[in-house]
Amino acid sequence: MSSLPLPAKVNVLLVGSGGREHALAWRLSQSPHLGKLWVDSNANAGLLALGTACPEEFSLKRKYYLERWLAQEKIGFIVIGPEGPLAEGMVDALATPERPIFGPTRAAARLEWDKAYAKTVMRQTSIPTAEGRVCTTLGAALAYVTERDEPCVVKATGLCAGKGVTVCKDKHEAIAAVRKCMESKEFGDAGNSVVIEEKLEGQEVSVLALVDGRTITMLDTCQDHKQVGEGDTGANTGGMGAFCPTPLLTDTDLQAIARDVFVPAVDGLRRQGIEFRGVLFAGLMLTHAGPKVLEFNCRFGDPETQVLMARFQGDLLKTLWLTATGRLADAEFGFDPRTACCVVVCSEGYPAATQKGHEITGIIPIDSHNRATDRFTFQGATKLEKPRKVVTSGGRVVGATCLGDGLEDASKDATALAGSVRFTGAFFRSDIGHRMIVRPKLAL
Ligand code: AMP
Ligand code: GLY
Repeated sequence: MSSLPLPAKVNVLLVGSGGREHALAWRLSQSPHLGKLWVDSNANAGLLALGTACPEEFSLKRKYYLERWLAQEKIGFIVIGPEGPLAEGMVDALATPERPIFGPTRAAARLEWDKAYAKTVMRQTSIPTAEGRVCTTLGAALAYVTERDEPCVVKATGLCAGKGVTVCKDKHEAIAAVRKCMESKEFGDAGNSVVIEEKLEGQEVSVLALVDGRTITMLDTCQDHKQVGEGDTGANTGGMGAFCPTPLLTDTDLQAIARDVFVPAVDGLRRQGIEFRGVLFAGLMLTHAGPKVLEFNCRFGDPETQVLMARFQGDLLKTLWLTATGRLADAEFGFDPRTACCVVVCSEGYPAATQKGHEITGIIPIDSHNRATDRFTFQGATKLEKPRKVVTSGGRVVGATCLGDGLEDASKDATALAGSVRFTGAFFRSDIGHRMIVRPKLAL
């Protein structure tokens, strides 16, 4: 697959159905190399305006039919958005010498789908991270949290869509969190074992890099807002809003993070015979003792991708192709100097269960031609019910994303845009970016 030249036109299948994929689809659709864009069988209304829904579910259960369909439609490139298919091993199952896939193999994606494994790799390669322990039995986990006096964080080791982590104030909360994972099995098998680690203090940043096995290209840095409530309160979610770039990291900081986190992670996997190709995403806490890794993801973040794609300048299809085929060093792309901010409009009840089927108004149509715009309503949990009727279909419904001259402008515009997206039970955080905007003012 290495060095496979990018055809003049290639048919692409984009897997995944959320705001991340809508933002990726929009940029992919602008590539002069795009033949036909196919989107997920479960695609949201935004994706359906940019591509055609694949009739097959992207799952190993359907491998035989999928392969037949991929051949029939002459799909030459697959881009995988979410972690599920990566953890399932879809890259291993479907990549061929003529049909590359953007995304890591199951073995490389283990950095995300097994937090205990990620902790081991970090320890072996001296990547700075929170001190902690992996517990595989309820008894061991309860004993460990009971003997600790400091606040800790309890994490289900498997995939939980960002919801398997509890940051605990005290022992009682930690005991409850352990029981939730290992006794009541709230996260199913994902909570069969837990990572229990020290609670770190500081600002959180999302650092993403494209990796082709050897070359690592850092992308501009983002900050996500994980908690559901204003002022960073309440339950953890998949992400309530993000901005890019963050003023917290200089280019020198980013180089240090590449050297201390990304290079050892990619090299550590390579020493185990595992090549990482795709996007590697480190969630970092900027502590007094320097940046420490909270988690690795092996895919683009959501909502981080919405702000990254709003600023991306270049041919995304070519960039992802070069990454997947081991020639990332040849990729040429950059980022708009403006700041992007995304405010996620959610359904009432999120991150717990939500109602579906409420009509949405205020969505701005996105097609491959709106290149110059600075306001986007990237669609997440939406569904096209009938022509021109879009309804809610889950928790994170729309990512109201704006470009502005600085974070204050971008945040103000994105918050106003979020307010113009209407449906029954809609809510959003109106303080995305505020910790960065308010702090310098207080310092005056
Ligand atoms: P993770 O899925 O491991 O990134 O955890 C989800 C969120 O929980 C992170 O984005 C942080 O906000 C929080 N978190 C995770 N680990 C820690 C930690 N060791 N100390 C403080 N907060 C944490
Ligand atoms: N926004 C965090 C994530 O995508 O995991």
